[in-house]
Amino acid sequence: MASYTFKYIRSFFRRVSSKSELKRIIKIFHKEMEKGLRGEKSTLAMIPTYSIPATGREKGGFIVADMGGTNLRARKVELKGGGKIKAGNIKEKSLGVKETKGAAEDLFGTIARFIDSLVSKKDAYAPISFVFSYPVKQTAINRGVLKKWTKGIVTKGVTGNEIVGLLKNALNKIGLNNAEIVSLANDTPAALQAGRYIDSNCDVGVILGTGTNAAYIEDVKNVKKWKAPKKIKKIIINIEWGNFNKLDMGQWDKKLDNLSSNRGKQVLEKMISGMYLGEIAKIILQGIKNGWNLSGFNAKDHMTLIAKDKTMNLRYVEMVLEKFGINNTTIKDRQIVKEIVGLVAERAARFGAAAITAVITKTDPSLKRKHTISVDGAVYRNYPDFSAIIDDTIEELFGKKGKRQIKVITTKDSTSIGAAVIGAVACLIK
Ligand code: BGC
Repeated sequence: MASYTFKYIRSFFRRVSSKSELKRIIKIFHKEMEKGLRGEKSTLAMIPTYSIPATGREKGGFIVADMGGTNLRARKVELKGGGKIKAGNIKEKSLGVKETKGAAEDLFGTIARFIDSLVSKKDAYAPISFVFSYPVKQTAINRGVLKKWTKGIVTKGVTGNEIVGLLKNALNKIGLNNAEIVSLANDTPAALQAGRYIDSNCDVGVILGTGTNAAYIEDVKNVKKWKAPKKIKKIIINIEWGNFNKLDMGQWDKKLDNLSSNRGKQVLEKMISGMYLGEIAKIILQGIKNGWNLSGFNAKDHMTLIAKDKTMNLRYVEMVLEKFGINNTTIKDRQIVKEIVGLVAERAARFGAAAITAVITKTDPSLKRKHTISVDGAVYRNYPDFSAIIDDTIEELFGKKGKRQIKVITTKDSTSIGAAVIGAVACLIK
């Protein structure tokens, strides 16, 4: 027997992401942000990043090394000032089980060797801007301690430890003594700074990819828990919004959470990000259709194809199901699959829009200023209609004024460019 009906699922998703619900969530989000900034218990870590907002005039060359999800990326980036950039090709390598489930030495050894392939031993000095996109409590622009892993990584010996030190040791071990890690950054301040380098109205950076999170610019006087370095008036805060949990969870959300490596944590992330969307749809579909086994169903390959299917008989939905050995489906079956995939993705996009709205209204409740939101991540860039739903929801929440004052942009290569900008501002605040 199915544990829930299609009718129930549809009404659940519509209710939890209705306009009035989103407005309620935004209010709670503000309270959590405030508590986090005061250093009180909150689901939002609100981490001061030691990175000051860029002016667009920053200059300098950096090697950016980026550990984001389960991939490593590196490239050389040169900022030429006035929004101009010269960047080398991106080198990419996927991390294996040894790195993502093994010991810290394995992970950082691999990162060090990867950096080595871009550094010339002849260079007297190689400035590295390191992007490490997990919840890190920063203690300086180039120091920080991992609070917990997310996105399914469970490497031992990293949580509770200082990240730059781990990487520095690994670099020294292979004799790369000319490399200096000048900055440590999350991908969200990088998205913000990359947007800001070309648009001075940019004050929020968002990632909607394997994981999800955002960073924004806050007045230092509001960050009660933090003793700011002298002369700093504004600081970029890494919200770590993926951990927000004041949300109504469906049975499928609870099931997914129970099966995850970080139970009870990252509740919003588990409803929004690419790592989990396919899993939610899978759990729901298997709950409705006895005997269906959709093991391996994911957002990138399967949900995307289903969402794009505009054929009359839902031929692509049929093809996806056949891949899982589910043959002879009726058109009704396929319609249900398509609608469930749509509901899961729509909730994700609407929650993303609500979170963005909450961040904007935290600093500018009546939209007096213009805001550019720099968004990156595969879900935002590639999932059909995801960005359009976000735009529509923001308009639904703000009315016409939202359309006038808020611009949501996709910033290409935001992580590497933003990290170089952070490397450059790091030189200013030391
Ligand atoms: C991490 C954040 C990161 C986000 C997007 C989350 O799982 O906790 O630090 O910014 O993923 O990569």
